[in-house]
Amino acid sequence: MQVSRETFNQVMVPNYAPAEVVPVKGLGSRVWDQNGDEYIDFAGGIAVNVLGHCHPELVQVLNDQGSKLWHLSNVFTNEPAMRLASKLVAATFAEKVYFANSGAEANEAALKLARRYAIDHADHSGTFEKDEIISFKQGFHGRTFFTVTVGGQPAYSDGFGPKPGGVTHCEYNNLEMVEQYISDKTCAVMMEPMQGEGGIIVPDPDFVKGVRALCDKHNALLIFDEVQSGMGRTGQLYEYMNLGVEPDILTSAKSLGGGFPIGAMLTTNAIANSLKPGTHGSTYGGNPLACAVAEKAFDIINNEEIFSGVRQKEALFRTLLNEINSRHNVFSEIRGKGMLLGCALNEKYQGRARDFMLAATKNKLMCLVAGVNVVRFAPSLVIPDEDITEGLHRFEAGIESIVERE
Ligand SMILES: Cc1ncc(COP(=O)(O)O)c(C=O)c1O
Repeated sequence: MQVSRETFNQVMVPNYAPAEVVPVKGLGSRVWDQNGDEYIDFAGGIAVNVLGHCHPELVQVLNDQGSKLWHLSNVFTNEPAMRLASKLVAATFAEKVYFANSGAEANEAALKLARRYAIDHADHSGTFEKDEIISFKQGFHGRTFFTVTVGGQPAYSDGFGPKPGGVTHCEYNNLEMVEQYISDKTCAVMMEPMQGEGGIIVPDPDFVKGVRALCDKHNALLIFDEVQSGMGRTGQLYEYMNLGVEPDILTSAKSLGGGFPIGAMLTTNAIANSLKPGTHGSTYGGNPLACAVAEKAFDIINNEEIFSGVRQKEALFRTLLNEINSRHNVFSEIRGKGMLLGCALNEKYQGRARDFMLAATKNKLMCLVAGVNVVRFAPSLVIPDEDITEGLHRFEAGIESIVERE
């Protein structure tokens, strides 16, 4: 059966507006479309393909596990899930892991757990009131109704009827505002330790430390959503390690599976105890196929050689992007960390990030936007330096086509 981009419009729900090209094959940081045209991939499936496309060791483990055992449901546990959880526990603050299938589901679990933990530890002698959640404007936590409501972009949560209540959105990097709204009624503060979708916003380390202190003062749980920032992308396994602030709950997805769908929620023994049998679950969460691939991705990523490589590649990106900007003067700032970088457009090009992304695609470079003013790169952590150089060459050709038209 022959399908083309036109088929999408005929048979798919129109909640996405995909690019005109239809990719059919990928290898490392290169992708080919239906016409055989080759692209360099700085998008990484939106910060997912952490080791590029079809990494041989991931393909190997997928094939091995694929001919052994795919799925059982949580009526049984399985070896890959227990091994992956053991490795995540050994490498982080966490003592317990819950597996889901996506970032939104990991966050949904985190939010439900925070509410349940508050109920379990409440003094029920008076009126129980510890169910408020503080999160941040421009934050993004997924598309389930709870997570999209906690996310700070009303455009994504409006228009679906009554929203889950008790959520207050503060300004990111504004500690005074958090101080104003947090109270003993707050059960959790949820934040990305670097905002991704919201525009690649790096927090002030003192802000994050201040939020931790306020959570401690009011006995609220601190939830770090590391779905986008996690798994080596910022030059450490998780960004909280760079910041020196430990959360109570951490969520991970995207890069965790190296391209295979999986999500995880990490927490401590004391907090995990509130999810007793029957309180929460998922048919596919922690299935052996996903966990086997994620375990291999973890084994490859979790070492200093990969992390220092990420920092070196970031330096190369920054050097070349600054050179491009000195020739065309289109960015006000290059921000972000490691292999999660944002090129913020200057005054002259406000609102036009999508134009730059489309111009890049025309020149055979895949990249992303983060809001309307930032072009985002989230490539593989092991992208070869030659692909960075060639990709940015193509990016510059796209920029030239815009600048020349002005
Ligand atoms: C920080 C963050 N949290 C959660 C999500 C949702 O993840 P998923 O699309 O896997 O549900 C995303 C996706 O972009 C994200 O960037």
